[in-house]
Amino acid sequence: MSADTKFERTIITGALPYANGHIHLGHIAGAYLPADIFARFKRLCGHPMLYICGSDEYGVPITLTALKEGISPQEVIDRYHAANDESFARLGISFDLYGRTSWPIHTETTQTFFLNLYRGGHIEKREMELWYSEQSDRFLPDRYVKGTCPKCGFEEATGDECENCGAQYSANDLIAPRANIPGDSSTPILKKTVHWFLRLQDFTGELRTWLEGHPEWRANVKGIAYSWVDDLRARCITRDTDWGVPIPLDDADAAGKRFYVWFDNAIGYVTNTRQYYRDRGEPDGWERWWKDPASRLIHFIGKDNVPFHAVMFPTYLMGQGDYILADNVVGNEYLNILNRETGKTEKGSKSKGNMISVRWFTSKFSTDAIRYYICAIMPESRDAAFDWDEFFNRYNGELSNVVGNFIHRSLTMTVKNFAGQVPGPGPFDDDDRAMLAAIPEQLDGIAEALENFRFRQALERFIDLGRKANVYFDGKQPWVTRKTDPERTATTLYVCCQVVRALCTAMAPFVPDGARRLAGILGVSLPEGGPEGGEDGWNAGRDGLPAGAPLQEPEVLFPKLDKDYIAECADAHMRGEAF
Ligand code: MF3
Ligand code: ZN
Repeated sequence: MSADTKFERTIITGALPYANGHIHLGHIAGAYLPADIFARFKRLCGHPMLYICGSDEYGVPITLTALKEGISPQEVIDRYHAANDESFARLGISFDLYGRTSWPIHTETTQTFFLNLYRGGHIEKREMELWYSEQSDRFLPDRYVKGTCPKCGFEEATGDECENCGAQYSANDLIAPRANIPGDSSTPILKKTVHWFLRLQDFTGELRTWLEGHPEWRANVKGIAYSWVDDLRARCITRDTDWGVPIPLDDADAAGKRFYVWFDNAIGYVTNTRQYYRDRGEPDGWERWWKDPASRLIHFIGKDNVPFHAVMFPTYLMGQGDYILADNVVGNEYLNILNRETGKTEKGSKSKGNMISVRWFTSKFSTDAIRYYICAIMPESRDAAFDWDEFFNRYNGELSNVVGNFIHRSLTMTVKNFAGQVPGPGPFDDDDRAMLAAIPEQLDGIAEALENFRFRQALERFIDLGRKANVYFDGKQPWVTRKTDPERTATTLYVCCQVVRALCTAMAPFVPDGARRLAGILGVSLPEGGPEGGEDGWNAGRDGLPAGAPLQEPEVLFPKLDKDYIAECADAHMRGEAF
């Protein structure tokens, strides 16, 4: 039974990536691919579905990039918004809308959220002392200040967290602070200023009740969420900067200040849903997705975003009064990189130059090959590592060899021997019956795994159907019976065509390109569904192909990767050219 029968529609979100760099495989494995597989599956089932994402366009890293490059923050975000939009499209990530937090409609949404929290008494104005550069005549929020970590002595610690030991502290405790602005590394002074704080502790009880209502969440997500809920305090949600959403208060202290990017960004999920419906001339359409308890909200994120989606953002929603809360927060672990030279696994990092960007990877390999491998190693419950040999072995050995090959030999033999049509079967024997019975079993197994966000398991079950089919095909030897027993051959290939039809459905969420081409060969439709839902194309996968159905000339769906080509790409990667 599907987990969502009590819901009429599902809205899923992928963490909004900063428009401050290129999307890489770590992003994809963490959030966007699992979310996309889920979205495609639900749409194919005919379930009303929205997949919302967009660029996260405020915050200090973006203004620092602009300063370093001598361009405006607007130029930074325009560049990366466009680049990332394209990267996602090249990987077949099927957002219904990829929006922008720099849109005016987002300012409006964010300010409304804030004012509701303010009127509810959840906002406090506090005086505080912050680092200030006299040389640049400005406060130094977040990464604008560097110094020595008070916990471990690391000299390049920024703002209020240390990259070396992971400690979080008050920026005021940094030892030997210095400004971190191009052209300014002066020693700052502490200066009085005023900021706004959100009283997270007001929501402790409500958060606890919500979390307790979801024992089914992944252990990693629950663990992090509970550790936060035990110790909630007011958090500063404004910054001294001019790059961000303005604070809608008639207060002289609000001048020169903006909302902290971690206040406005997730509200972008709501903004982008509003924009989606504005574009369709139905300005209130978004409300049913965010306010109707029959709507199911699911966040897909990397684990560093768990506190934010399982604690902070829900408090913003609670403060509105009439919003639903997430039904699940699907947090993935990290995708690391296997270094071929050292044989060691390392963290992906810009400075090491070991990251693989989507724009580079999609220029070298097919969308389906990439999606297949990333899903096969998805870091669901522990970290995983990108490994070139494994990429080669799994794609070639599983998708290409098991599934691709079965489909190809079945269709080629059928088209050749039965005039391009699905043959009419004779009587079934036990093998035929077992093979036909495996179709609904495997489809149900895949669906069940997907409903429970076990993407690797779902993929294995898909390949498993291919394995069973190859065993059947080899046992029946249609290439031998072809000469001796036409009726037997017809029955065998009829059964094979039914499996091919089911594989077409089963692969659609994972490798949509191959699925689309196969559907063309089989003359079947894979309904695209959408926010209004549609016909159930998933269960149509078990209805099969009737005898006499015409087949187009088969093509190789998943061409084999060449070992030398892989080695060449891997070398380029090791030289730091994969970004
Ligand atoms: N931009 C953030 C990051 O890359 C994620 C923001 S998710 C949001 O870590 F929900 F808060 F928008
Ligand atoms: Zn430290």
